[in-house]
Amino acid sequence: MLSSDKVLTPAAEALTAQAPVTRSPTARVLIVDDEPAACKLLALLLSETDFECKTALSGAEALRLLEKDNRDAIVCDLNMPGMTGMELLAEVRRRSPQVAFLVATGLDDVRAGILAMKSGADDYLVKPLHADLVIASLHRALQKKRLEQEVEGYRLHLEEMVAERTKQMEAALKLVERSYEDTLEALGAAIDLRDAATEGHSRRVCRFALEMAKAMGLSEAQHKTIAMGAYPHDIGKLALPDGILLKPGPLTAEERVFMQQHAQTGYDLVKQIPFLADAAELIRTHHERYDGSGYLRGLKAEQIPIGARIFEVADTLDAITSDRPYRRALPFEDAFRVIQTESGRLYDPQVSTAFFSLPKETWPTIARMQHQVTSLPSWLRSGGAGSLGSS
Ligand SMILES: [Fe+2]
Repeated sequence: MLSSDKVLTPAAEALTAQAPVTRSPTARVLIVDDEPAACKLLALLLSETDFECKTALSGAEALRLLEKDNRDAIVCDLNMPGMTGMELLAEVRRRSPQVAFLVATGLDDVRAGILAMKSGADDYLVKPLHADLVIASLHRALQKKRLEQEVEGYRLHLEEMVAERTKQMEAALKLVERSYEDTLEALGAAIDLRDAATEGHSRRVCRFALEMAKAMGLSEAQHKTIAMGAYPHDIGKLALPDGILLKPGPLTAEERVFMQQHAQTGYDLVKQIPFLADAAELIRTHHERYDGSGYLRGLKAEQIPIGARIFEVADTLDAITSDRPYRRALPFEDAFRVIQTESGRLYDPQVSTAFFSLPKETWPTIARMQHQVTSLPSWLRSGGAGSLGSS
């Protein structure tokens, strides 16, 4: 039961000894006590100051009232029949954590007050209550709640700011990525200009390789590295003299050695470009052969990066099925036979297995699509091979 007796308890004295608090603007208070007279009296005293008060004679009535009417603070007797003050506290905290909640307890039950504070009460008052102390405690609790709300508002604002900045960063990164892709496209176009006989070759082997990489279950990061390496794989040819690159007849032994250097030249060029650094290894090893018969270093099997092992199959497929200065394109069936026959010798059997696991129509379909494409394909813009089958 609440009372307005002007008796100072030890807890009350401690309360008055605390620093003065900022007075709150008119606040809406709910007084909950099973004693109607105590409720009324405290409501009357508080209403004479800065508070607009309502009363409830039980926890259940208090909850009904709170459903219809928001309150800034609740002063609640702990010891009530039916729903206790602790039970009401738990329910109010669940529904409205921003409401200030003061509990009133008897002098012989201070522990209950402390327990209530551990359970979320903002303060406890020892009965009989001193009106000034209740008012001071209410102001203090309301001020604390306002600060908590300000902190929460600031936190939410910060989260919004972080989300906004993250969006801006992502947009900027997309722009950077796009500029990388444009650079790659320019490199590919330069290679094609240099060697018109193999126009579109870079783009097609890139698509073939990505399709195999997808069938092998490689990661998105590996897809990207393969794409970044396969597209400019012959970039080193830019350094070859026309007399060798465009020579219609067979190369001499010396010219062949010179020609083979394009893999190393391409590697040296590309490894210095940060966004292509991972792809540089594919460029250096794109003429290695599974059995060690390739160049530059005669690497064998797993010594050759998986991207380059995949590339070998893609390169063979395109070489056989594209027009060359000295012959027309051959049927895809011819390429399938070569890949099947040379699997385990020139080509990684895991790669050829992935190759043949896909419908045969996959490869001519990709080749036809790439013949029609005039700009960098969207799969490269999206950074993976996810749209290979549908673009
Ligand atoms: Fe090459």
